Amino acid sequence: MKILVTGGAGFIGSNVVRHLVRRHGHVVLNVDALTYAGHLASLADMADDPRHRFVRADIRDAAAMHRLFDEFAPDQVVHLAAESHVDRSIAAPAIFIETNVTGTLNLLQAARARYEKLSGEARDRFRFLHVSTDEVYGTLGDEGLFTESSPYAPRSPYSASKAAADHLVRAWHVTYGLPVIVTNCSNNHGPCQFPEKLIPRAILAALADEPIPVYGDGSQIRDWLHVVDHAEALHAVLTRGRVGETYNIGGDNEWRNLDLVRLLCDILDQLRPRSDGRPHADRITFVTDRPGHDYRYGIDADKIHHELGWTPRRDHVEAFRETVRWYLDHPDWIAAIGARSSQLLANS
Ligand SMILES: NC(=O)c1ccc[n+]([C@@H]2O[C@H](COP(=O)([O-])OP(=O)(O)OC[C@H]3O[C@@H](n4cnc5c(N)ncnc54)[C@H](O)[C@@H]3O)[C@@H](O)[C@H]2O)c1
Repeated sequence: MKILVTGGAGFIGSNVVRHLVRRHGHVVLNVDALTYAGHLASLADMADDPRHRFVRADIRDAAAMHRLFDEFAPDQVVHLAAESHVDRSIAAPAIFIETNVTGTLNLLQAARARYEKLSGEARDRFRFLHVSTDEVYGTLGDEGLFTESSPYAPRSPYSASKAAADHLVRAWHVTYGLPVIVTNCSNNHGPCQFPEKLIPRAILAALADEPIPVYGDGSQIRDWLHVVDHAEALHAVLTRGRVGETYNIGGDNEWRNLDLVRLLCDILDQLRPRSDGRPHADRITFVTDRPGHDYRYGIDADKIHHELGWTPRRDHVEAFRETVRWYLDHPDWIAAIGARSSQLLANS
């Protein structure tokens, strides 16, 4: 199968590209603008694989998207490219609308033009898989979980832009018959996540003997899933999911931010103890909370469990340990993205 993946040089995208090519033998055209969050270093091991082709292109450029769809003639599309960081969306929202909303519109139109040329089996198997977030549902209290029928109530510019994109994707199904599927996933962790996000930021701060920042009092709760388990869920949706449907994807693995950072520190104490013998957790520092910080996200993933037979394969704590170990084992990757990330973090 020929699959066009957008955002394949980012965190989830690079893991999805590797999974689709290596695990499932697909041929991937990876379309990514290489913003501050996209790095070919995340795909260094794929550079010589003829099943993976990278093209630097911007999803905001409608003509470029049409050209790529014509040239590559994909059987399916997995759309991940996005501006993805809530804090950046608060500081500078416009680019989130341009990329996440207008960029998605451009891809829908290019996919539609391609789909309308197809017939027979090629038409039956065409899919536009839109990868979205649980943040579109807003925030929960201590009880309850988001289901696929939870009302949309986004509260940050990031989640509002993703919600808008989700609505566009569903509208293209109803109005034009494009065979779309939407997934809404909880927080991912694993290799190659840009270190502005909680887990790699905490690990890299600890390794640099710097304060480990935790927003507010660290009481916010998130559900966590290893990125390769997410990649396998997306593959299950692509191959067995029902057209026009939405699937929530989650790990059934909720952690308070502070407890999670403490766990990461404990793992680091075992794998990379501090030279002065003190616990890494001593460096946890509470910083000013994010405005409008959602309290809790929790996912009911029964639909994907029962309909598609997908469940996360990794043990929760083992998965966090695997993630910590990946950052310890890849100083080359950290160095490759390091200079740019520290500059940008300072400006964000
Ligand atoms: N990270 C999570 O925990 C999480 C959870 C649920 C859903 N998602 C969704 O999954 C997708 C990927 O998230 P991520 O964490 O890997 O993000 P990321 O920021 O690590 O990667 C985004 C990628 O998109 C590319 N990109 C950005 N703007 C582009 C443009 N205009 N044209 C082409 N490429 C562009 C970047 O270069 C980068 O490679 C996003 O759509 C996000 O909303 C993420």
